[in-house]
Amino acid sequence: MLSRRTLLASGAAMLALPLPARAAPIILTAGPAQGQILPDGEPATAMLGFNNSTPGPELRVKQGETLSVRFENRMDEGTAVHWHGIRLNNAMDGVPGVTQPLVGPGETFDYEFTVPDAGTYWYHSHHQSWEQVAKGLYGPLIVDEVDPPEVDEDITVLLDDWRIDVDTGEMMGDFGNMHDFAHGGRLGNYAKIMPSKTEVRVGDRVRLRLINAATARIFPVRIEGLAAKVVALDGMPLPSPRALEDFFLAPAQRIDVIGDVVAPVTFVFLARDQQVEMGTIEAVGQNDAPMNEPIPALAQATVAMPKAEPDQRLSMRMEGGAMAGRHAGDDIWALNGWSGMSDVPFASFRRGETAVIELINDTRFPHGMHLHGHHFHELDADGGLGDYRDTTLVDPGSTRQIAVVFDNPGKWLLHCHMLGHQASGMKTWVEVN
Ligand code: C2O
Ligand code: CU
Repeated sequence: MLSRRTLLASGAAMLALPLPARAAPIILTAGPAQGQILPDGEPATAMLGFNNSTPGPELRVKQGETLSVRFENRMDEGTAVHWHGIRLNNAMDGVPGVTQPLVGPGETFDYEFTVPDAGTYWYHSHHQSWEQVAKGLYGPLIVDEVDPPEVDEDITVLLDDWRIDVDTGEMMGDFGNMHDFAHGGRLGNYAKIMPSKTEVRVGDRVRLRLINAATARIFPVRIEGLAAKVVALDGMPLPSPRALEDFFLAPAQRIDVIGDVVAPVTFVFLARDQQVEMGTIEAVGQNDAPMNEPIPALAQATVAMPKAEPDQRLSMRMEGGAMAGRHAGDDIWALNGWSGMSDVPFASFRRGETAVIELINDTRFPHGMHLHGHHFHELDADGGLGDYRDTTLVDPGSTRQIAVVFDNPGKWLLHCHMLGHQASGMKTWVEVN
């Protein structure tokens, strides 16, 4: 095919063409925001947000393009923005003290990076995140496929829970509660979905992009009213669509489903003894020309596959927490006996090395372990390659092996995404040279 580039290059005179005007950066500000957590008409909640809104604006960019964000901190405390799940340039990862300085009150920071993979991602504060994220400092980041699957609606659905007074809407101020940190984290008393669109038609084919933005809550979810398949986890396409069953979504995890609307699309929280509705996307009217094609697989991401024989085998024992004999303080949780950031990395890798890391949960609580800058394969019991994710949920008393190709140079955090656990010791870092 004759592209514009070849056409120009084959022209007799190689004119110096002006570069395309650089797109102006997106302005993203962090500051106070009023959130409507309680139903409309009931009191709003004083929170933090991006561009005066919580959740922050949905950022959308096409795969392979560059996202430029001028970030301005209008809060009276420091912060930084992390682009969760994106395999980006280390300097843009948004971790104060590791990849950049803290962005102080009134300061700005320019983020600019290319997005290599299409999918559902999100951005959030990475400073005092147990409090700043709990107060609402996050938003969705959607990377569109070059050739997106055909759907009638593409809807982002954030999930969160909050600890609030359900009469006044006021958020409880106990963000650093050590008792919470030593247990399952600061769980909310009020949960709901925040969909980017609240109405569809019966017969519509919809893509739902669920993002768990909660700091501690593992949502047990059933989606009703949609004949759907799972097409991606943590942004990354599945090799082929999988039947949608009830699922768990740990903090920071995402799931993309594509399906056909048969009734109002209701999100049910499957508590042990009851089913709680977290919200509904209403079905209004009928789509007279429904799509009948089978639900397609998304275009596969181009990622390095782990070597059959790993270069390094490591194990990481999660320890501490309530009922495990450690004492409260900054070091409630530990990884291999070490609590919090260390001067030396947990491990160092030469670029391209494959590591198999055994995550051993020797505690009484589940942990959702997140690696920055990379995705990894969960390994099956027999060592086969399972799902490809950036956050893996490891149940108490169980072990999960992950295979990682460390091909992105830099210093990368590896931590529990129960943010109170992270704050009280469950974090470390690795280095890729
Ligand atoms: Cu989504 Cu280190 O975080
Ligand atoms: Cu944890």
